[in-house]
Amino acid sequence: MMSLLRLRGRGRPFGPMVAGLALAAGMGVASAQEGTPAITMDMFETDSRAPLVLNETEKNYVLWEMREMLIAVQGILEGLSNEDMERVSSAATVMGTHAADQVPAVTVAKLPLQFRVWATETHEDFDAISIAARSGESPDMLMFRASSMLNTCIACHATYRIKVE
Ligand code: HEC
Repeated sequence: MMSLLRLRGRGRPFGPMVAGLALAAGMGVASAQEGTPAITMDMFETDSRAPLVLNETEKNYVLWEMREMLIAVQGILEGLSNEDMERVSSAATVMGTHAADQVPAVTVAKLPLQFRVWATETHEDFDAISIAARSGESPDMLMFRASSMLNTCIACHATYRIKVE
């Protein structure tokens, strides 16, 4: 598997983009990261991420699943902030490995190996968070698990984009 560091390098324009959007929203994050280059629009003329070639239905499915994952992350954080481990566990379990079982084989076959590896890891991480929350693991450790899982979201987003054909 490619290292995260290399991926971060490949995805360079997108980190600053987040900072740029936050700045546009008046949040003043300019100095949050030392050495962050100035944002110029020509950095965004091309999207160099690898295309996942999908049909319209498959794209809509993948994006729906992504939004569901964001909802699951929100539920995990809300549960942790309230020390409600039942909430953490039930939010996480929605996006566990069973969620991937519904993807048709013909669609899976279109996905690059690295994409599938990261997708599987993410679903497994959701399962692990769900089990750990029910097993009385500390909020700190659960937060660490969630943060580590988000690194996989970040790596995949830096690497792939969807292209409809
Ligand atoms: C295996 C790769 C992969 C993983 C892992 C992954 N994503 Fe995504 N995600 C994508 C791709 C590809 C897109 C579409 C990007 C594009 O076409 O510009 C996307 C888009 C999204 C979107 C936008 C949805 C929309 O309606 O436009 C959200 C939100 C999102 N991801 C959340 C997450 C979260 C949260 C995680 C981790 C818990 C995650 N993703 C993990 C690949 C991934």
